[in-house]
Amino acid sequence: MKNLINRRILIIGSNGMLGQRLTEFYKRSGDVEILACSAEDESFIEGVEYRKIDIREKSEVKNVVMKFFPDVIVNTAAYTNVDGAEAEKELAWKINVVGVKNIARFAQAIDAHVVHISSDYIFDGKNGPYYETDNPNPISYYGRTKLASENELMVSGVRNSIIRTNVLYGPAKYGRPDFVKWVVNSLREGKNIRIVTDQFGNPTFIDDLVFGIDAIIEKTAEGIYNIGGKDFVTRFEFTNLIAEYFNLDKSLITPILTEELHQPAPRPLKSGLLIEKAVAELEYNPHSIVETLSIMEKELGL
Ligand SMILES: NC(=O)c1ccc[n+]([C@@H]2O[C@H](COP(=O)([O-])OP(=O)(O)OC[C@H]3O[C@@H](n4cnc5c(N)ncnc54)[C@H](OP(=O)(O)O)[C@@H]3O)[C@@H](O)[C@H]2O)c1
Repeated sequence: MKNLINRRILIIGSNGMLGQRLTEFYKRSGDVEILACSAEDESFIEGVEYRKIDIREKSEVKNVVMKFFPDVIVNTAAYTNVDGAEAEKELAWKINVVGVKNIARFAQAIDAHVVHISSDYIFDGKNGPYYETDNPNPISYYGRTKLASENELMVSGVRNSIIRTNVLYGPAKYGRPDFVKWVVNSLREGKNIRIVTDQFGNPTFIDDLVFGIDAIIEKTAEGIYNIGGKDFVTRFEFTNLIAEYFNLDKSLITPILTEELHQPAPRPLKSGLLIEKAVAELEYNPHSIVETLSIMEKELGL
């Protein structure tokens, strides 16, 4: 039997792409008490206890944490618009850094374990894929805020786990479409899509990440863990795998270079996260991309 009986888990960012799958997972598991929190007035997931929260506000974090008194706080909330962060620096910093500082402060007051989600964007992408011990060197403002969020947790003294992940996709039902859904919808509509050939990583299926989060909670594993996918691919290769699986017209996919997109934020190109530590310590065993596409086909009716 799992050692989670009566465990109280506070999920922050529960309406986000990852947060909603994590909330559904713990709702189904039944042997934990959860409180879901996010920025919207209402929960996207029905049948769970929900509070609206703005993690930038110390008093709101304090109220939620002190009232629910969780054993574990999983923070999936973040300012995640990489290009937007270049123009909205103050907002991105307040959510990604001050927000995490607020969570750490009140978690420490009640000795809760904080599990926080970070990103491969803390690296410059010159020589990835990366181990947990490699030196960060963010090249975008978003990446700087994510690295600063890790540092806030580490200096706070709170019991914490930092999960670094990259290119999330999966069967989240609410909010903006993920990359897979976007590719499938665009190609089915006969639209041409321009996809970069020079961004490399190991896309992470959200439900594999949920498994990793749960393993970290169950084992009270502290420290930094890379949680990425099984397959290392360029974005162009990933797109072709999606088109092949769903029998779509690959001639609509045009290969381009990242620099041709003229995006406000630079992207780490040769990135990705090596997952040996999670495999060894968490029994983490992610699906292949093709397996995950089959799961998405069934779950979303794609
Ligand atoms: N998506 C990826 O490819 C990727 C890759 C690497 C790492 N990550 C990290 O993984 C985590 C989850 O990402 P995701 O893609 O699931 O993000 P997401 O879909 O953008 O969800 C983030 C959630 O946080 C909420 N939020 C924003 N500001 C808030 C505030 N001040 N107080 C409370 N909630 C707030 C958002 O609400 P609103 O929608 O109303 O703003 C949203 O529900 C993030 O930490 C992200 O940095 C993501």
